[in-house]
Amino acid sequence: MKTPSDETTLSRKGQGRRGLVTAMAAAPLMLGVASSFGATSATPPAGNGKAAIVTGSSRGIGAATARRLAREGYAVTVNCEKNRELAAAVVAEIEAAGGKAIWVQADVSDPKAVSRLFDACEKEFGGVDVAVANAGIMHLGAFSELSDQAFDRMWAVNAKGSFNTLREAARRIRDGGRIICLSSSITQLRTATYGPYAATKMAQDMFVGSLAKELEGRGISVNAIAPGVVNTPLFTDGKTPQQIAAFAQRTPHKRLGEPADIADVIAALCSDKGAWVNGQTIFANGGLV
Ligand SMILES: NC(=O)c1ccc[n+]([C@@H]2O[C@H](COP(=O)([O-])OP(=O)(O)OC[C@H]3O[C@@H](n4cnc5c(N)ncnc54)[C@H](OP(=O)(O)O)[C@@H]3O)[C@@H](O)[C@H]2O)c1
Repeated sequence: MKTPSDETTLSRKGQGRRGLVTAMAAAPLMLGVASSFGATSATPPAGNGKAAIVTGSSRGIGAATARRLAREGYAVTVNCEKNRELAAAVVAEIEAAGGKAIWVQADVSDPKAVSRLFDACEKEFGGVDVAVANAGIMHLGAFSELSDQAFDRMWAVNAKGSFNTLREAARRIRDGGRIICLSSSITQLRTATYGPYAATKMAQDMFVGSLAKELEGRGISVNAIAPGVVNTPLFTDGKTPQQIAAFAQRTPHKRLGEPADIADVIAALCSDKGAWVNGQTIFANGGLV
């Protein structure tokens, strides 16, 4: 039996968001193009003439970043692992606001899928100017309890997935571009049960320092954003309202961060005024750390 992940699907306006099954794909990949029906070659991006890929943008920080970059004029490639309907909804929202976007289902832990994600952006929008390696998962547990499966999957998605994305970005991103990955302020807090997750985030801080230097002379800035506690399922799932409120109380602003707070910082780094910030980890946590 053919499963959805065996297929490459193009969904276009007026034909149902997942209407056309077009081809068997060598690697799991679903592609949703909600505009430009019939385009056989790259169509010019809307707005600022640039294109952005945001991994893990079906919800949370990634979805807010996709919407925010679209408002800045980027044609955006939205990505999900499982939640295709959410990814399609982000694309629909961007289009309704006059922007351009496609969605691509691709597991960032799979290098071939990430390569196809970049292929899709290049094919649809003519190139890649911004890559945000945002996709991530969090499994918490004491060292005595955390399973091999939870540990391995976190490293596969957060560390290897980000590496896969940064490697494609290093090969393909256009001069003057931006590469951003998601670290975490938890790297500074040394909190019980967060150690293995925090280590995958610390990897991002190391990645950006090296990559910024490797891309010298091309005007490409590479940075990590380290949010604190942000109101998304990654943070709130499995916590009681009291636990969530306790974290909010630890920030001087007495609230959780919202995905838009982080998207605003990412957009600032992607702007011309963000060019001089390079090879850094930027802590955006409302004062938590
Ligand atoms: N929320 C926080 O408090 C916080 C704090 C610091 C850092 N961060 C970092 O910020 C990033 C975004 O987190 P979030 O809070 O927005 O999480 P979220 O709401 O749980 O969203 C995670 C996103 O990543 C996608 N994803 C998960 N595994 C994937 C994979 N293997 N391949 C492709 N996409 C995948 C999900 O897609 P599906 O919908 O298809 O599953 C979803 O779009 C993460 O890297 C996280 O470590 C978050």
